[in-house]
Amino acid sequence: MGSTRLTRYRKSLAHQVTYALRNPDKVPPYARRAARDAWLRLKYRDHIAYYRAVMASDAARSTEAAVGHNPSRDRWAQIGRMQFDYLVRHGLKPQHRMLEIGCGNLRAGRLFIDYLESGHYYGIDISPDILIAAQDTVVREGLQAKLPHLTLTDDLTFAFLPDASFDVVHAHSVFSHSPPDVIEQCLAHVGRVLAPGGFFDFTFDRTEGREHQVLHEDFYYRTDTLVELAAKHGLSAQFMDDWEKLPHLQSKLRVSAVSEAARTVSP
Ligand SMILES: C[S@@+](CC[C@H](N)C(=O)[O-])C[C@H]1O[C@@H](n2cnc3c(N)ncnc32)[C@H](O)[C@@H]1O
Repeated sequence: MGSTRLTRYRKSLAHQVTYALRNPDKVPPYARRAARDAWLRLKYRDHIAYYRAVMASDAARSTEAAVGHNPSRDRWAQIGRMQFDYLVRHGLKPQHRMLEIGCGNLRAGRLFIDYLESGHYYGIDISPDILIAAQDTVVREGLQAKLPHLTLTDDLTFAFLPDASFDVVHAHSVFSHSPPDVIEQCLAHVGRVLAPGGFFDFTFDRTEGREHQVLHEDFYYRTDTLVELAAKHGLSAQFMDDWEKLPHLQSKLRVSAVSEAARTVSP
């Protein structure tokens, strides 16, 4: 280990020990997650397979907890409502077609499905367990007649979806669990499926300091990194200041196609 890395390692270890001493109640759940992380990392090399297994493990305990750290149903409903109200304020119309990436158990999706015309909601997710829970939400909310599309996916190339088809693409709390290559794959392909004038909103865990990840589950990015990644694929990104005023810890970026280049898949 070089001296800079050793110093950084010592600082990070000291920080972790201080944090643990100050928050003793957080140590057992962290230790459980660390053990699970070590085991699943041995089993799965690929991030999607790894995170799918994390979701299966979380969903076995509670699907509400699997899509958000706080397992209360009130908080689940509140976060879903916040996403919905925000997009309606920003111009979502019933006739729009919407793609929700990482739709989860339809915390917000149930409101989008209800609001949009039949067949206009497409939810994709990497977790079969979560998609079963999403179907339960459709049944519980009596939304069958709205014919939502709920599809399992293995990547974010959207290869099975047609060109220029979605007015709104939405991903809430998905890039906060995604390594850079997954985000880049999404940004390289999303322009192709966006309808003219369409946009893609996503939230992310923002850091002003060094980018880092915790237990391969939570990823922290600088805004500039994501803005530059979007630009690389012909997309312009706008930081959504009004989202910052809402009671939510993540930030939001909105990307839209600036050139025809975004509509053709870039490498
Ligand atoms: C924290 S949950 C949020 C779910 C939903 N967006 C919401 O706000 O309730 C993250 C969801 O994204 C899914 N997910 C994570 N990585 C994904 C990826 N690369 N592609 C599609 N779905 C993904 C997970 O399976 C999970 O259902």
